[in-house]
Amino acid sequence: MKYTTALLALVASASAIDLYLHGNNDCGGSELRCNNRNPNTCCGTNASTPYRSVAVRGIPSGWSLQGRGYDQGNCNRLQTISGNNGNLWICNRSNNFFYTGVGYNFVSRKRNGVDVPVGVVAKDVKEECQRPDALVLEDGTEYDLTSLNEENFDSLVTIGFNASSSADIPEHFQSLQIN
Ligand SMILES: *[C@@H]1O[C@H](CO)[C@@H](O)[C@H](O)[C@H]1NC(C)=O
Ligand SMILES: *[C@@H]1O[C@H](CO)[C@@H](O)[C@H](O)[C@H]1NC(C)=O
Ligand SMILES: *[C@@H]1O[C@H](CO)[C@@H](O)[C@H](O)[C@H]1NC(C)=O
Repeated sequence: MKYTTALLALVASASAIDLYLHGNNDCGGSELRCNNRNPNTCCGTNASTPYRSVAVRGIPSGWSLQGRGYDQGNCNRLQTISGNNGNLWICNRSNNFFYTGVGYNFVSRKRNGVDVPVGVVAKDVKEECQRPDALVLEDGTEYDLTSLNEENFDSLVTIGFNASSSADIPEHFQSLQIN
């Protein structure tokens, strides 16, 4: 418990680790971004949009993390786990299922040559699932999703999945543009 609290303080002060659900299979295309998330939490959606890759970005140099990808609505079923292997970001691909949620965990020193996840409890991950904060289109246009009710959230996320620029987004959502 103490260890987890210390890690959370470290995350809060030292970094902003962002999580992503991506439209294409290579961590690109239209995306949903979850800003500055803590380890062992879930960022996900129940929307039926078929995300094909997940990413973790903003990993501080020297940190050892695992990105976790889920399907079947929010962080319902853990499908992929991938380490950063010294890189500052992680991308994993689905190939034949659709991601609905993403998270990450710290990794402790290897035990018998195997990375050991720190503080991950599947139950906790599900309980803490939160919506993504932003929709980012292929051309980099961003929309703030945080103020939307469920219905409008689902609507903008669905339209945004195939939108390549702001011209593809209905007028009544344009006031949410942040970039
Ligand atoms: C997602 O769907 C499940 C099952 O239908 C439901 O229990 C849950 O409340 C939904 N979560 C959100 C955030 O809509
Ligand atoms: C993606 O996840 C799978 C399943 O956990 C894993 O076998 C694979 O190595 C990961 N791919 C990458 C690029 O990390
Ligand atoms: C995106 O476009 C593809 C191809 O036209 C279509 O099959 C799919 O249903 C669309 N997805 C969404 C979420 O609108």
